[in-house]
Amino acid sequence: MNGALLALLHHGSVLACAGPSALARVAGRPGVASRAARGAALRANAAPPVGASREHVGLPKSVLRRGGGGGDGGGAPSVAATGVALSGLPDRSRPFTVLGIETSCDDTAAAVVRSDGAILGESIAKQDAIHAQWGGVVPGLARDAHAAAVGRVVGEALAAAGLSSAADVDAIGVTVGPGLEICLRVGSAHAIELAQRHGKPFVAVHHLEAHCLMARLAARAAAPPGSAEQLPFPFLSLLVSGGHCQLLLCRGVGDYAIIGSTLDDALGEAYDKVARLLGLDVGGGGGAALEAFARRGNAANAPLPVPMARRKDTSFSFAGLKTAVRTRVGKLDGGGSEAERADLAAAFQLAAIAHLEQRLRYALRWCAEQRSAQADAPIGDAADNDGAARVPPLSALVVSGGVAANALVRARLGALCEEHGLAMHTPPPRLCTDNGVMVAWAAIERLALGHSDQAEGTEVRARWPLGAALEVTL
Ligand code: KG4
Ligand code: ZN
Repeated sequence: MNGALLALLHHGSVLACAGPSALARVAGRPGVASRAARGAALRANAAPPVGASREHVGLPKSVLRRGGGGGDGGGAPSVAATGVALSGLPDRSRPFTVLGIETSCDDTAAAVVRSDGAILGESIAKQDAIHAQWGGVVPGLARDAHAAAVGRVVGEALAAAGLSSAADVDAIGVTVGPGLEICLRVGSAHAIELAQRHGKPFVAVHHLEAHCLMARLAARAAAPPGSAEQLPFPFLSLLVSGGHCQLLLCRGVGDYAIIGSTLDDALGEAYDKVARLLGLDVGGGGGAALEAFARRGNAANAPLPVPMARRKDTSFSFAGLKTAVRTRVGKLDGGGSEAERADLAAAFQLAAIAHLEQRLRYALRWCAEQRSAQADAPIGDAADNDGAARVPPLSALVVSGGVAANALVRARLGALCEEHGLAMHTPPPRLCTDNGVMVAWAAIERLALGHSDQAEGTEVRARWPLGAALEVTL
């Protein structure tokens, strides 16, 4: 494994669990935007007054639900289709460096990555502690924290790479969507200003593409130098983050199709909400807190049903499971003992992961069916059918996004892949959650194919599906 990457693998959140009194405090708190708000247009941009209602602070659920295939369409810019270097390209005859900037939700992050995969420097300012008291990400607070941190974070990433300013990198990439609009604007404006001031090639990065491509950097870093590409396209990707839960066919840079989405909550969002329901200290992140707490429990003591167990498709749903936890907690005396709540945490995790496994099995079965239908089709027919016909032989499953940091998710899905003879790739835990490295790397993948974007006039895109949604029937 690449030494620079190895040095960055530590994942340091140690979380205390709070008792029943904390549970009562959480229950009485004003509601705020869930992380899933990254898929929606923004309305609230000021810190909520204490006691404000859920509606006034966060984003309406009806807006949050739209994620998936809808929205302003188009998918990630297709390199194959455009292949245009609108702001020029770095000298690609030698390794080039890219500064990546990320401010789409509640992490201000930056990194300098070299095109051969070396992570030269990075920095991150997390906002979990800022939002913990509100029960979710407060967009206005997030924007202000990004604005206060972005200059310092970029400076730290450059300094860690041994560079004195953005003039010393070869190109600049920034997340422009999907995400919280007012937050995206902070990073995007900063990156555009740097690109213009220093005359650098500029890449507008899709946040979800960056999560998926991160696994290609990690696979490369883990391989001996000079060896063949470790994670070639095409592959299947399970993207499980705070704002999304999607199954994606990744056919190439800029070429994705959605073959499964959540009908309600994203998995990370469910982890965050259940962590709060159980009264955990979420100052270091709800998902990590719940994972640590669940280790103390026994799921068999409080089993929860696997969502949509009898529904044979590739859709996800976590809202019912979250409600089941809420109902169980409500029935426990005074919010329950720590042991009882830990049992519930373990049961939530087990049911959620069993749901992931079931959906993945269906997706793999569907892919195999499409491929054998393709093999049987007369020559010429397959190419005309843009949905089914373009299901390629898959080289691997990539699990990415914040929830992919979870050890049980990794272990269980790893076993499933083994059963199916499929390699599983997942970035090191600390690079599963939002970071600057993935943004820089996504920009590198585009630049390497001869693609860059115009910095001037680049708009952020709060809603931006990564690709078209295919109809999956089993
Ligand atoms: O990818 P990410 O950093 O941000 C988004 O793009 O949304 O994902 C953040 C989500 C949060 O909901 C967080 O609770 C969840 O990932 N997460 C985890 C773990 N670490 C982060 N969920 C379960 N177990 C974890 N260890
Ligand atoms: Zn993310």
